[in-house]
Amino acid sequence: MCGCALRCWGWGPWAPGPTLFLGLLLSAAPFGLHGEETRQVSLEVIPDWEGPPQNLLHIRAVGTNSTLHYVWSSLGPPAVVLVATNSPYSTLSVNWSRLLSPEPDGGLTVLPEDSVQFSSALVFTRLLEFDSTNVSDPAADPPGKPYPPYSLADFSWNNITNSLDPVSLSSTFQGHLVNDPTRAFANGSLSFRVQAFSRSGRPAQPPRLLHTADTCQLEVVLVGVLPRGNRSLFGLEVATLGQGPDCPSMQQQHSIDDEYAPAVFQLDQLLWGSLPSGFVQWRPVAYSQKQGGRESALPCHASPLHPTLEYPLPQSPIVRAFFGSQNFCAFNLTFGASTGPGYWDQHYLSWSMLLGVGSPPVDALSPLVLGIMAVALGAPGLMLLGGGLVLLLRHKQYSEYQSIN
Ligand SMILES: *[C@@H]1O[C@H](CO)[C@@H](O)[C@H](O)[C@H]1NC(C)=O
Ligand SMILES: *[C@@H]1O[C@H](CO)[C@@H](O)[C@H](O)[C@H]1NC(C)=O
Ligand SMILES: *[C@@H]1O[C@H](CO)[C@@H](O)[C@H](O)[C@H]1NC(C)=O
Ligand SMILES: *[C@@H]1O[C@H](CO)[C@@H](O)[C@H](O)[C@H]1NC(C)=O
Ligand SMILES: *[C@@H]1O[C@H](CO)[C@@H](O)[C@H](O)[C@H]1NC(C)=O
Ligand SMILES: *[C@@H]1O[C@H](CO)[C@@H](O)[C@H](O)[C@H]1NC(C)=O
Ligand SMILES: *[C@@H]1O[C@H](CO)[C@@H](O)[C@H](O)[C@H]1NC(C)=O
Repeated sequence: MCGCALRCWGWGPWAPGPTLFLGLLLSAAPFGLHGEETRQVSLEVIPDWEGPPQNLLHIRAVGTNSTLHYVWSSLGPPAVVLVATNSPYSTLSVNWSRLLSPEPDGGLTVLPEDSVQFSSALVFTRLLEFDSTNVSDPAADPPGKPYPPYSLADFSWNNITNSLDPVSLSSTFQGHLVNDPTRAFANGSLSFRVQAFSRSGRPAQPPRLLHTADTCQLEVVLVGVLPRGNRSLFGLEVATLGQGPDCPSMQQQHSIDDEYAPAVFQLDQLLWGSLPSGFVQWRPVAYSQKQGGRESALPCHASPLHPTLEYPLPQSPIVRAFFGSQNFCAFNLTFGASTGPGYWDQHYLSWSMLLGVGSPPVDALSPLVLGIMAVALGAPGLMLLGGGLVLLLRHKQYSEYQSIN
């Protein structure tokens, strides 16, 4: 950890350096992607009056000049479509007969269509399991011998209406394997808890990701499922839209601050384009106990993104309905290492991520770390720093005056 401190002072390319901050403020972003401090958030389960009931959750987050739509569904594998518009009046339109047909293109639209500033999607395609018995290298990829993966398209999901909570703005998709000859899921489930926010804040549970009104949090929990080996590591395969022939980029950001996620000095991000566009953000940590803490923290490893043309993945009707036929890219998240705590301790695993549009939330240094720095640098050092900042800001003001003249 100490060895990391020095390297981390170098800050990654997306660390909050002053140039980046100014860059973000000055860059000409599409209107709807500037982000808003607060939003009016509503959650609605959209019914299909004619067919059998389906889980389709629409989260609508309305700001002054923009609306974010998050559409989550367990129709096929669990998936989310996120759409940012530059209008506070944009709406989601669902054509169920088309959405449930073999050609769902156009079954999901956001109107007016020209208000859409950004859109993308994530599909959680398969639950992976590896036998890590003889693996000594904790960074091995894959982390062991793979067991046949569980396709999440073959799961049966609860009725999300019953878990819809308008106070916490959350809902949970809880699923288990339907055709389960080994009864692995007899007493267990995989759940996706989705939560939206009307303002920024931080949950009480580690990794305590900083959220804003422009983001939505997903907590994935595997509980009670019988592992196929004594040292089973679990993983999740995630697919997303490609960008032309390319895949979105994955980035790592380092910090010296681990106050909110003990012993984790890294933040991983998937970016769908040059900022501000859309992002997925997570700490590379999962927990093997409900009360997540340092003792139950497991490393979370993300593989690079690969185009999925070579092998078939479970398809999501809602993604197809909104985007039509697209190229997909996928990556694997794996949780844990053969040594240390693991799923085997309590048959419990949880991992969280944020999904959002605009610029990803950036952790400021926590008060505790600032305090430690103050003591370490001493008051003179801080004054020097403060003086430098004032000079910098004044210089900027002057240059603005000049450009007006
Ligand atoms: C969920 O429950 C609600 C009311 O409890 C019902 O109207 C709806 O049809 C059910 N949906 C599913 C997917 O079973
Ligand atoms: C919304 O748009 C109005 C008029 O175009 C503008 O004055 C205002 O600053 C915008 N508000 C936000 C939060 O972007
Ligand atoms: C829904 O889609 C079906 C089949 O594509 C089409 O016939 C129907 O007109 C659409 N309904 C609406 C309200 O657009
Ligand atoms: C692990 O190694 C032992 C001893 O070398 C061997 O008997 C066993 O089959 C190996 N297990 C796996 C899963 O490879
Ligand atoms: C599920 O739980 C019940 C009661 O706790 C237990 O009797 C049963 O053996 C469990 N089934 C499996 C497959 O673990
Ligand atoms: C798991 O551990 C038990 C007891 O330590 C052992 O008897 C069993 O063979 C192991 N199973 C596997 C699949 O390695
Ligand atoms: C994820 O892991 C599974 C099992 O090892 C493998 O078949 C699949 O190709 C991997 N996917 C990616 C995108 O690396």
